[in-house]
Amino acid sequence: MFKEIGSLFGSITVLLYLLAILNYLVKFIYKKYRNELIINEKLYSSFTKFMKFIVKRHNLFGVLTIAFLLLHFLIQFSQYGLNTTGVIAAGIMLLQVGLGIYGSKVKKRGGTWLLMHRTIAVLILIAIGVHVE
Ligand code: HEM
Ligand code: HEM
Repeated sequence: MFKEIGSLFGSITVLLYLLAILNYLVKFIYKKYRNELIINEKLYSSFTKFMKFIVKRHNLFGVLTIAFLLLHFLIQFSQYGLNTTGVIAAGIMLLQVGLGIYGSKVKKRGGTWLLMHRTIAVLILIAIGVHVE
């Protein structure tokens, strides 16, 4: 029972991470395919609504990722003890969220900050892949 809940919290963590990373993807699609999307009025309006939702809630998704990661960690730790690949993924995730919070507070975010935040997002994907494989 506990183990199932632990797995569920792990999956929710992944889901929230994916919602956070969509921030990049929706903007990319919008920039690249705006002219094509605009031809279909309904599709364009649905897409821009979805994009606004994803971009507006980005910080929330990021913070919630850590909340569910903590729940996942507490349960898995109580059942299995430490897990190396999990700890690595969690360490990078903590770094990412810390960087995100910092970036959301400062007035001028440089290009280096964005590059780091984007790069770490990819590193997390790899770390999660190794952890759940
Ligand atoms: C970003 C961080 C993490 C994510 C996204 C994550 C996500 C997941 C997911 C999706 C699973 C697979 C669940 C399944 O197959 O049903 C899993 C399994 C597991 N996680 Fe994590 N996890 C993270 C960090 C951690 C940490 C810090 C620990 C340390 C205790 C941990 C311990 C475990 C264990 C022991 C399993 C395997 C359970 C089994 O063998 O069935 N995870 N995790
Ligand atoms: C799961 C953790 C997170 C991931 C995977 C993630 C990923 C990303 C990515 C890929 C971008 C680039 C978007 C672009 O190129 O335009 C971005 C932008 C940004 N992130 Fe995060 N992020 C996370 C957590 C956070 C948190 C917790 C905060 C703040 C509380 C945050 C604040 C920002 C800000 C301010 C930007 C730039 C402006 C914007 O696009 O909204 N991020 N994030």
